[in-house]
Amino acid sequence: MVRQLRPKTTYVATTGVKEYRATIAKHVRPDDVVLEVGCEWGTTTDLIADVAPDVIGTDISPECIARAREMRPHLQFDAIDAFDMPALLALGKSFTKIYVDLSGFSGYASLLDLLSLLNMYTYTLQPQVIVVKSRSLKTFAHRCVPWRGESEEEDRA
Ligand SMILES: C[S@@+](CC[C@H](N)C(=O)[O-])C[C@H]1O[C@@H](n2cnc3c(N)ncnc32)[C@H](O)[C@@H]1O
Repeated sequence: MVRQLRPKTTYVATTGVKEYRATIAKHVRPDDVVLEVGCEWGTTTDLIADVAPDVIGTDISPECIARAREMRPHLQFDAIDAFDMPALLALGKSFTKIYVDLSGFSGYASLLDLLSLLNMYTYTLQPQVIVVKSRSLKTFAHRCVPWRGESEEEDRA
């Protein structure tokens, strides 16, 4: 019998940095292993570290990572492209929560790229939750209604 892989990742779509950071209190626990992709200078990574010390911030920009390391020497930061899966896997962690905040990926034009990135993280890293800062994803999620059939029974069948 074929057993299809069905990761149980939940996606939390946020608009703006205030919402993005507000999710930390609800979704991050002290024993979580967290990755922030698109960490810039590590401001959110540091807020996550206040709750879950096992956190890594990554960014495509070596300049941002250099500044993050300078400002927050107690935290781990690495210069990695969000799409470089081998480099993310080489970090050697089983991430339970992933934060994604990539400049240029918030609009509708990049929604498909963002979804494929989330899909890639879902199947390779299998986190419990991915928090994303993306207005277009949040709008899209608002407009999606999962069809539950005529009754709840039908949905469970
Ligand atoms: C809005 S800033 C992140 C702010 C940060 N998350 C915070 O809360 O303070 C967006 C970051 O995404 C990074 N970025 C853009 N494209 C990326 C990619 N393909 N891979 C990794 N980082 C990327 C940029 O270098 C930039 O630092």
